[in-house]
Amino acid sequence: MGALDQELAQELAAWEARGLTRREQALEGLVDLVTNDYLNLAQDPHLIEAARRAAERYGAGGRSARLLGGGSPLDREVERAAAEWLDAEDGLLFPSGYQANTGLVPALVGPGDLVVSDALNHASLIDGARLSRARVEVHEHLDAEHLEHLLQQGGGARRKLVLVEGVYSMDGDAPDLGLWSRICARHGAALVVDEAHALGLLGPAGAGAWAASDGDPSVLAARLVTGGKALGAMGAVVVGSAVLRAQLVHRARGFMFSTAVAPAIAGALLAGIEQARAADRGRDRALGLARDLAGALGLPMPAAAIVPIPTGSLDRAIQASSKLRAKGLDVRAIRPPTVAPGSERLRVVCHSHNEPSDLQDLVTTLRELDLPTAGAAQQSLPSASPLVVLGTDTDVGKTIVAAALLRAASKEGPAHYWKPVQSGPDCDTQTVKSLSAGKVLDPGYTFDLPASPHEAARAEGREVDLAELDRMLSEHLTLPGTLVIEPAGGVQVPLTDECLQIDWLARHRLPSVLVARSGLGTLNHTLLTLESLERRNLRPRALILVGPHHPSNHDTLARMSRLPVLELPLLDPLGRESLDGWLEEQDLSCVLPATMVSTR
Ligand SMILES: Cc1ncc(COP(=O)(O)O)c(C=O)c1O
Repeated sequence: MGALDQELAQELAAWEARGLTRREQALEGLVDLVTNDYLNLAQDPHLIEAARRAAERYGAGGRSARLLGGGSPLDREVERAAAEWLDAEDGLLFPSGYQANTGLVPALVGPGDLVVSDALNHASLIDGARLSRARVEVHEHLDAEHLEHLLQQGGGARRKLVLVEGVYSMDGDAPDLGLWSRICARHGAALVVDEAHALGLLGPAGAGAWAASDGDPSVLAARLVTGGKALGAMGAVVVGSAVLRAQLVHRARGFMFSTAVAPAIAGALLAGIEQARAADRGRDRALGLARDLAGALGLPMPAAAIVPIPTGSLDRAIQASSKLRAKGLDVRAIRPPTVAPGSERLRVVCHSHNEPSDLQDLVTTLRELDLPTAGAAQQSLPSASPLVVLGTDTDVGKTIVAAALLRAASKEGPAHYWKPVQSGPDCDTQTVKSLSAGKVLDPGYTFDLPASPHEAARAEGREVDLAELDRMLSEHLTLPGTLVIEPAGGVQVPLTDECLQIDWLARHRLPSVLVARSGLGTLNHTLLTLESLERRNLRPRALILVGPHHPSNHDTLARMSRLPVLELPLLDPLGRESLDGWLEEQDLSCVLPATMVSTR
C-alpha cells in the first residue's frame, strides 16, 4: 500500500469507528421505500421499449460531447418535451442533475454577484454556487425572513440569484414558491428551482412545485427537471428561456465538456415524460400513502412523497433500518454528513407501487422499536384521518355531505366534525348534529355576521389568528379516527386580509373532497375551483354533486376532472334514515379509504 493509500485507509477507519461507513447497496426482493423512482417508471415497459428502440436506431453510446457531434436527435426532443411539460420556452439536456446544477449556477453568476442558498440545498447546488465564485450566503432552511434579510444586505451585488428546491429530499418539506418569488422580485433577484423531488408528484400533470404555486414568472430563471427520479431514467434538463439555453450551451461546463447521454437514456426520458404526465393515479397514491404514514406517526404532513422519521440517534436509525430490512422493507438510515449530527433519521419514500399493508408493517415495526420521537408521538398522539369537505360556493350542500361522511365514518370508529370558522348563525353544526352520530367539536372561531371570515371578524373588531387556527387543527389531528373538517363557503374566501382559505389549507395539505351543485352553472364553478386547488397541489379525492340529477354535468365533470364523481340527490325528507339509504348505495372507498393505520 502506498503512503497515500495508508493515509486514506486511516481516514476510512475513523469513519468506520464512528459508524458512518456507507455502502452501495441495491437490495433485491425488498419493498422499495428508499429509491426516488416515485412512479415506478424505471420498470415501465414503455420506457424499456423506448430505450431499446433508441439504442437500435442510434447506437449504444453518446460518443462525444454534443458540441463535438455526440448524442442523437432524441436529445433535442427530450429538451422540447420537458420544456413543454413545464410550460417553459426551451431546455438543455445534461448527463445528470449534478452536472446540470454545477453547470447552471456558474453560467448565471460569477465574481461580484450574490447567491443566496437554503441551508439544506442539495450538494449539486452548493457545489455550483462554490464553483461560480460569486459571494454565497446561506439562509436558515425555509426561512423567508432570513432570505429577505440576506438579499437586502447584498444590495450592492451585480446580480442576485436565489437557489431553492421544490421539495427537500431529506426533510420532505417545501418552500412557498409564491412567497419566494415575491421576495426575489422585491430585491431584483432571479430564482432557480430544483424540481428533483417535486416533479411527477406536484402540480398539474405532475409539472412540479413551481407549476403548483402562484409564483411570479418574471423572476424565474431556471428549473431543474431530473431524469433519474420520477422520470425513471437518468440525466436532467434545465428548462427556462431560449436565451438561458443559449447561455448554457456556451457556459455550462457540465454540458460542454461531458459526453452526451446514451440514446437509450434519451429514448427512455421521452417515454418517461409522457408516462409521468399521465400518471395522476400514481402520484395521488404515492402522495396519499406519504400523508397517511405521516399521520399515523404523528409527524408533520409531507410536501410530497418523502417522510423523514426522526430516530434521536445514529444507533437507533441503523437499528431501525436493519429491523425493517429483516421484515422485508428497504428503509435507509440517513446519517451525517448528509444530515446534521443529532438529526439522524429514517427516510421513507412512498411510491405509486407501494401497498398500504407495507406501510402498516412499517408502522407496527416502529412501534415495537419504540423510537424516542416517533414512539412518543404514536402513544400520546393517536392521529386522526382528516378529510376536508370543500365547496365551490356557499350553500352548495357541503354541510349535508359533511354530515353524511361523518355518519359513514362513525360506523367504523370514532369520528369528529370541526368547522375552523363559523360566521353567522350556527345552523351547520345543528344540521350535522341532527344527521350524524359523530362528535361535533366547537368551531375554531365564531362570528355573528353571515359573511366571509375576514369580514365577519372585522365587524367585531377581531381577526382570525392563523397561528391559533394551526394550533387548533394540530390538536384536533391528535384525535383518534376520522376528522371531517368543513371550511366556510368557497375555497377562495378570505380568512384574513392576506390569507385565503385555500392558502391556509395548502399549508396543511389535508385530503379533501369537493362539493358542487349538480345543475346549471356548476361546470364553470367546479372547473375553476379545481384549477385553483390543483395549482396548490390540493387535488381532491372526489367530486360530490348535490341536487337533482342533471343529464350531462356528471359525465362532463367526470371526464374533465378525471375524479370519481358521486351524486347526492335532494333527500326528502332529509334525515338519518334517508342519508343511510344513500350511503348504502355509494362506494365511498375513494373518499374514506380504510387507511393502513386505522385507529377506527
Ligand atoms: C435536489 C437534487 N438535485 C439534484 C440532484 C442530482 O441529480 P442526479 O442524480 O441526476 O445527478 C439530486 C439527486 O439526488 C437531488 O436530490
